Parts: sequence; C-alpha cells; structure tokens
Amino acid sequence: MKPGMIILKTAREIEIMREANLIVAAVLNCIGDMVRPGITTAALDKAAEKMIADAKAKPAFKGYRMRNNKPYPACICASVNEEVVHGIPGPRALEEGDIVGVDVGVIYKGFVGDAAMTYAVGEVSPEAARLLKVTQESLYKGIERAVGGNRLQDISAAVQEHVESNGFSVVRDFVGHGIGRTMHEPPQIPNYRGVGWNPRLEVGMTLALEPMVNQGSWRIKLLPDEWTAVTTDGMLSAHFEHSIAITNNGPVILSRP
Ligand code: MF3
Ligand code: CO
Repeated sequence: MKPGMIILKTAREIEIMREANLIVAAVLNCIGDMVRPGITTAALDKAAEKMIADAKAKPAFKGYRMRNNKPYPACICASVNEEVVHGIPGPRALEEGDIVGVDVGVIYKGFVGDAAMTYAVGEVSPEAARLLKVTQESLYKGIERAVGGNRLQDISAAVQEHVESNGFSVVRDFVGHGIGRTMHEPPQIPNYRGVGWNPRLEVGMTLALEPMVNQGSWRIKLLPDEWTAVTTDGMLSAHFEHSIAITNNGPVILSRP
C-alpha cells in the first residue's frame, strides 16, 4: 500500500480492536507467568495456542508470510538473548539469566491485536535488566507522542532519543506499523527519525509501536530459518510492542489490561 492510505477506524471498530488486544494481553500475561529456567519456547507456544483458541480467536502469525515466502510456523515469536524478533519456538529450554522476547498476535471479530514483551528468566545481569527497562520506557515515550496533530516521526524521534541517550541502539530493519483488519497496514513506523513518510497523526489511527533495541550495534542478520533475526555482534536485544489508538483523549493503549 502507498503512503496516504492510512485506514481510520470508528469508535466501534476501536472497541473491537480493544477486545482483540485484551486477548493478546491475557496471553502475554499467562506466558510471562510461565517463563522460568527449564521451560522450552515450544511449551510457551503451545500454551498460547490453547489460550487463543479458548478465547475464540485465531493466531495472526501462524501461516503469515513476510519478505520471504516461508509461512511463519507458530502462534508466538520467542526471541532469546541475541535474537531480536521472530524467533521460532522450539525445544530450546530457557536458562537462568536469559531474556526472552515474546510477541503475540490474534485475529478476533475481523481485527488484529498485536503486542510483545521481553521477560527476564530468573535473575539477569544488571545490563540486561537496564536494556529491558530502557526499551519498555522508549515504547512509552513513543506512545506519549501519538497525539492527533503531531507527526509520525515525533514518535520515532522520542523512541530513538531515549534509547540512544542510554547508550543502546535502535534496530533499523524492522519497524512498527498501522494495524486493523490486517496486521500490517500503512504507515510504517520506524524507531528512528528522518526516514520515509512523515504524515500528520489523526484521531482514528490505530498503530502498533514496537521498538527493538540492541545493547551493541543496531545491525542484525537473518538466520538460515529465514525468520529469526539476530544481532550481528551477538549482544542482547529487547522488544516491546503495544497496539494503540489515537483518540480525542490522546493515545489509548489497546493491549494493556
Ligand atoms: N509483531 C510482529 C509484527 O508486527 C510479529 C510478526 S511475526 C509474523 O510484525 F510471523 F507474523 F510475521
Ligand atoms: Co507488530
């Protein structure tokens, strides 16, 4: 889709997106409680699959195709340590000191909900803890700027400024996105300023903001599975995502319970 085609939602549509995102939030909450040393990422995916079905929703990621032509095989992404995003759940057991990014998407009543959190597994290093804190804070800094009349890159700049002033770097290769009846709608929402389209934000826009923040260099590469993105320097990466709506009363976080 081209710039200009941002699909505004009615209050009723935003209510449905709120329902979809509350399912996502509940799944994330449950998975967060399960994260501990010894559990496999496949077990987390299995639990998510059941919760999504019980909520009468459908997983948004399973079967999804992106740049590659290989459908994504699971309900969640589970990205451990140097994995940035799109880690495929499998037999890997989490270990004390790991961090794990969990991304969940569902389709409910025709709308998509999408959110992610990064969890500490047991006790983590102070640097890892700081990375999680700064990344989550940067998401909230971005959300604060998601106000009618601002420009898209006000969000990008707020995220980038918080991340870089804390000595971390912002991933370039993946961006946030508009969200609605499909998971990825215009506009793309980079977490760094100065690139691409910079439309004015309007009431009725629904956006998924998702800073991906690296401890070292922002550079990433794809693993041979064609999905898992990892840092090229092997250092840690964290990811937090919320779906939000821009309303007359400012930004509303749809994926926060
Ligand atoms: N939150 C991610 C996104 O918005 C998750 C996509 S995983 C995929 O792009 F498998 F569905 F691609
Ligand atoms: Co997303």
